[in-house]
Amino acid sequence: MGYAETRAAMQALVTPTEAHRDLYISPDIYRLEMKHLFANTWVFVGHDSQVPKPGDYYTTQVGDQPVILVRHSDGEVRVLYNRCPHKGTKVVIDRAGNTGKFFRCPYHAWSFKTDGCLLAIPLKKGYENTGFEGSEAAKGMRSVGDVRNYRGFVFARLAPEGIGFDEYFGGSLSSFDNMVDRAPEGRLEVAGAPLRYLHKCNWKMLLENQTDTCHPMVAHESSAGTAVKIWEAMPKSPDTPKPMAMEIIAPFMSPYEFFENMGIRTWPNGHGHTGVHHSIHSDYSAVPGYWEQMVAAHGAEKAQAVLGENRHNTCYFPNLMIKGPIQLLRNFIPLAADRTLVETWIYRLVGAPDMLVARTAMYNRLINAPTSMVGHDDLEMYERAQEGLAASPNDWVNVQRLYDPGEDLGAEAVENGTTERQMRNQFAAWVKFMTASMPEAAA
Ligand code: FES
Ligand SMILES: [Fe+2]
Repeated sequence: MGYAETRAAMQALVTPTEAHRDLYISPDIYRLEMKHLFANTWVFVGHDSQVPKPGDYYTTQVGDQPVILVRHSDGEVRVLYNRCPHKGTKVVIDRAGNTGKFFRCPYHAWSFKTDGCLLAIPLKKGYENTGFEGSEAAKGMRSVGDVRNYRGFVFARLAPEGIGFDEYFGGSLSSFDNMVDRAPEGRLEVAGAPLRYLHKCNWKMLLENQTDTCHPMVAHESSAGTAVKIWEAMPKSPDTPKPMAMEIIAPFMSPYEFFENMGIRTWPNGHGHTGVHHSIHSDYSAVPGYWEQMVAAHGAEKAQAVLGENRHNTCYFPNLMIKGPIQLLRNFIPLAADRTLVETWIYRLVGAPDMLVARTAMYNRLINAPTSMVGHDDLEMYERAQEGLAASPNDWVNVQRLYDPGEDLGAEAVENGTTERQMRNQFAAWVKFMTASMPEAAA
């Protein structure tokens, strides 16, 4: 099948209100996602505080492509493919470290500057008069198509040509702004290693679930509902403070009305967030000293504006979610059609009290960790769906809630918080960026 036919086939897999089950279960579709969707979109790589000094590196992947995030000697971060140009060996195998002034391949000791340029080859004279200068290998370790460091968060687009960073994200960057503006010193620092949790499901299930506001009170009843009942039954006086863990877990049992009223905002290209008017993070207790630090840094008016914005989950298509109010980021790394590695990173607000990062760490353990209470409910639903989608009479997954036939996903909009508009937005972006590099059929 040529790409023009493939393009038509991909378009046929998404309707305005449905997605074909092959998007979740087909290894062929998954391979096309790795080749096209994850090359044409801007994908999160890491935070620049993971590589503070020249020579510091962190290895990860963008789609199925092995990459290295590295701090070059000029102070800027680069994203290189983790592949030796000689015979393909992964140059770096550790998750993180410092390589000094250059990378050295462990196979034949070719070495490369931290911007990927070829530095030296042992017995170089063996390449004299061979035309080596014109070879692909002479170009050194290759860089990804484009890189942007947005307020510390590093994104890459693998394809050399394509949509620019600002056009791709547009107004959705306001969620990153709010997260970073919460630091009195205006910057974040990564707080330790991420939690890593393997899910036996397609990566899109995790993405969709971030704005699925009709599941918490159902799927989390056994965990959050039990916690709430225990707290309510505990002997206490009216002024007994609610423990931090209860402040975190109780909002998961909020009624439908709470989620309807919180609102959902969507932006073009598949981005959107829950919690426009309030969220499960709105009513956390104040942390002593933090407000004063924010006022000293920004003035009362800006401090109020920043801290008054309590967005819930902001999804960045294709595979990222952040929680600005608690400085938490989840990266849904695809491994196969039915395998996803979930990394949850937390960040310290530089200049703010330590209690804030302690609360975020508690949130992460309670909700997202392999040892959490709440995340397991979601995991079970994803894995059941992955298995259930094998049932052949039903080809379609339905995302029709609060659909308006005049819906325009090319415009920013705020709607009822139980709409599935953001999921429809993601599927429209899926088609757009899956097919962006496929030629249209000849007329
Ligand atoms: S494969 Fe890297 S130097 Fe030969
Ligand atoms: Fe959930």
